[in-house]
Amino acid sequence: MQAIEIKKDIFWVGCVDYDHRDFHGYSMSPAGSSYNAYLVRDEKNVLFDTVAPGRAGTLLCRLAKVLEPEKVDYIVCNHLESDHAGSLAEIVERVKPEKIFVSQAGLKSAQGHHSIGNWPVQAVKSGETVNIGKRNVVFQETRMLHWPDSMVSYIPEDKLLISQDIFGQNIASGSRFADEFEDGGEFVKRIKEYFYNIVLPYSPTVLKTLPVVETLDIDMLAPDHGLIHRGAKSVRFIIDMYRKLAEQKPQKRALIFYDTMWKSTEHMAYAVCSGLEENGVDARIMSVKHNHHSSVMTELADCWAVLAGSPTHNNTILPLMAAQLTYMKGLRPLNRIGGAFGSYGWSGEGPKQLHEHLASMNMEMPCQPVKCNWKPDHEALKACRGLGKDVAEVLRKKCEG
Ligand code: FEO
Repeated sequence: MQAIEIKKDIFWVGCVDYDHRDFHGYSMSPAGSSYNAYLVRDEKNVLFDTVAPGRAGTLLCRLAKVLEPEKVDYIVCNHLESDHAGSLAEIVERVKPEKIFVSQAGLKSAQGHHSIGNWPVQAVKSGETVNIGKRNVVFQETRMLHWPDSMVSYIPEDKLLISQDIFGQNIASGSRFADEFEDGGEFVKRIKEYFYNIVLPYSPTVLKTLPVVETLDIDMLAPDHGLIHRGAKSVRFIIDMYRKLAEQKPQKRALIFYDTMWKSTEHMAYAVCSGLEENGVDARIMSVKHNHHSSVMTELADCWAVLAGSPTHNNTILPLMAAQLTYMKGLRPLNRIGGAFGSYGWSGEGPKQLHEHLASMNMEMPCQPVKCNWKPDHEALKACRGLGKDVAEVLRKKCEG
C-alpha cells in the first residue's frame, strides 16, 4: 500500500473502494469509488480531508510510508460529509493535529455530525490564507456545492486545487489520473452521473463559482472522488464540462421512462419513441423496474424531452414511478419539455397525475396526457406517436432558437 506522489512532496493517501455501490444511500455507483485524501509535506505537514468510516487504517498506512502520522500538523476538512470525515475521529486521535481547518459553516457540521469535543478546530473564510512553509493554502468557500460546509483549498505555489466533491466522479481504479484512465467514455459517463445525482440542484451556484475557479492558475485539480486532472488541457476539460452540465442547454434527445403492469403502457412507450425518432429526436426508453432511479437521472444529462408513462393503479400511478418523479424533482432539472401517457382499466387518473408531476418541475408541457383504455389499439398507438411527434417539434424549435 503506497502513498502516490502527485506533485513534489504532495501525496495521494486515500483509498479505493471497488465494491462501492450505494453512494450516500440514494445513488448507485456501478463503477465503485474512491475517497481521496492528500498529504502535503512542508514545514507544517497538512492532511486534506480523510476517508469513509472504517477506512482510517488504509489512510494511515499509506501516510506512514512518507511521514510518521504523528507529524501531521494540520488537517483541512474541505467537506464534512461522512465519506470524507467519517474516519476523522480516528485520525485525530492518532495524529493529534495542532489545528483542524473547516469553513464557517463547517463548524456547525463538525459539531453536529462529528462530536468534535475539544478538538482544535479553526473556522476559515473565503480568501483566508495559511502559510505552511514554502507554500500557502488559500481557502475558498463553495457553499452548497454541495453542502453548506463545502470549501476548496488552493495551493498557488503548486498550482493545485483540492476541490472536495466538485469535479469528482465515482470510479474505482488503479489509475490516479484522468489521463491514465483508458476508457474515456466511462469517465465522461461517471462525471455526468455524479453531476446529475449530486450537484444538479446547485447548477446556478456552479455557474457563479466557475468564474472564481477560473481566476486561479491551476495545473492540477484534485477532487475527493475518482481521478485527478493534471495539465492545462485536462483541467480545462472538466471546467468546461461542468459549465455545460450546469447550463443545461437543450439538445435533441429524449428520455422515456415508464412502469407497466401487463405491457400496455410499455407498448405505448415504444410508440411514443417512434413518434420522436420519426421526427428527428433520438430517444432512450428506460423501465424504472429495470433501471435504478439514479441511472435514469444520469441519462437525463443528455435528454431535454422527458416523457413519463404509468398505468393507473388504485387511482394513482405505480409506486416506482412516484419514487422516480420524487427523486427527479428534488434534483431540479431545468429547461425540459415534458409529456405523459399511460393505460388504464376503469378510473384512468394516472397520466394526468404524471403530467402534473412534470409540470411541477417547471417543465414545458405542450401536449395533453395520452391515455388508453385497456390494451392500445391502432388508434391509441397513433395517439402515442402523435405525442412523440408534437414533443419532438417543440424540442427541435427550442434547440434551434
Ligand atoms: Fe463525497 Fe458530499 O461527499
